[in-house]
Amino acid sequence: MLSLETREIIKATIPVLEEHGNEITTVFYAHMFEEHPELLNIFNKTNQQQGRQQAALAQTVLAAAKHIDHLEAIIPNVNQIAHKHRALQVKPEHYPIVGENLIYAIQKVLGEAATPEIVNAWTETYGVIADVFIQMEQGLYKEEEWHGFKPFKVANIKQESEHIKSFTVSPINNIKLQPVVPGQYITVKVHPEGENNDMLRHYSICSDDISSGIKFAVKRDVAGSEKGIVSNYLHDNISVGDEILLSAPAGEFTLHTTEQPLVFLSGGVGMTPLMAMLESSSDKQVTFIHSAYNRAEVPFKDEITAFHDKENIQFYFNYSEESGRLTRDKLAQVINGNEEIYMCGSVSFMEGMLVILDELGIDRTHIHFEPFGPKMSITV
Ligand code: HEM
Repeated sequence: MLSLETREIIKATIPVLEEHGNEITTVFYAHMFEEHPELLNIFNKTNQQQGRQQAALAQTVLAAAKHIDHLEAIIPNVNQIAHKHRALQVKPEHYPIVGENLIYAIQKVLGEAATPEIVNAWTETYGVIADVFIQMEQGLYKEEEWHGFKPFKVANIKQESEHIKSFTVSPINNIKLQPVVPGQYITVKVHPEGENNDMLRHYSICSDDISSGIKFAVKRDVAGSEKGIVSNYLHDNISVGDEILLSAPAGEFTLHTTEQPLVFLSGGVGMTPLMAMLESSSDKQVTFIHSAYNRAEVPFKDEITAFHDKENIQFYFNYSEESGRLTRDKLAQVINGNEEIYMCGSVSFMEGMLVILDELGIDRTHIHFEPFGPKMSITV
């Protein structure tokens, strides 16, 4: 339990953190990778370059500081991050490294303003926050379907749309696959030729059928930027029969038990986890709303066609090339307001949809979402 004095110091430093938050985390990453270059095998270099991880960490630190009197308020967010950490195989021994480098960065950026009292208060507080993560992750490690990264053989590759391929991979080494939890993702570890480090990326599982293995989908990065280095590597270099390394499925964006009709609302490759959810809800009343640039961009056409005869499942496609974005009026025509809504897409798609759903008066407790990439904000 943190002392009253420590908590007062933490609260008093919030404005300073708000001012220097991103600067502190930038110094933190630079210093940590200098001291521990092996961690570059875990972290996503592209997220560092785009400042996304900096923002995520800064926001988490701030959220913790703001909730210092009742840290349990951040637990739902810790759960989502803990799943990612488990998927990446972040271990308890990594936490002191992050802690030491975070404190170093606070001292470096704040200079003399970082008094010993402030440094001690943050060291102590980081320890408490780290323990919350470590404990939650310990529970997830106990449940993981297999430990670490294990080799899988690529059994099938299918071009699902112009830019999306699905990969079906079956385990080697006697792993007996458990039924998939729709909405979860697997994590791939690759080491593209010419790169200095291993690269880890999460991809959503797109089918609940595991008879031939785990099926996940990957969108090619058409801009050809650093951003899509692993996705493009999988598209261009991986063939049937190859082996790739996977950690066990993770993620808490999963279906809740409900009697209500369901709405699946996706943008682009965000359709992936929702397809697995649809397959496992085929006896329910479902409206599947998908927004894509055009028809060529829509994946899983075979699966969608197979659902055509089912009266309880309605598809609604919005092609922005033809009719512009998915608007409030369009959504109001297909949503009743009594459904349980599951959304997935880019951060900007999700933010736009949340605004519209709020305007339509849909209670946030009925909206479940997972943006691709780091969660938009710990406080959303
Ligand atoms: C992702 C916070 C400790 C490695 C994240 C995210 C947050 C976060 C907010 C983004 C989650 C998302 O994508 O939605 C924290 C906090 C920590 C902590 C508050 C300490 C209390 C660690 C440690 C490691 C680590 C000890 C390993 C050395 C990662 C990696 C990612 C991540 C590799 C994925 C994002 C990327 O690669 O850019 N963490 N983390 N974290 N964390 Fe942590």
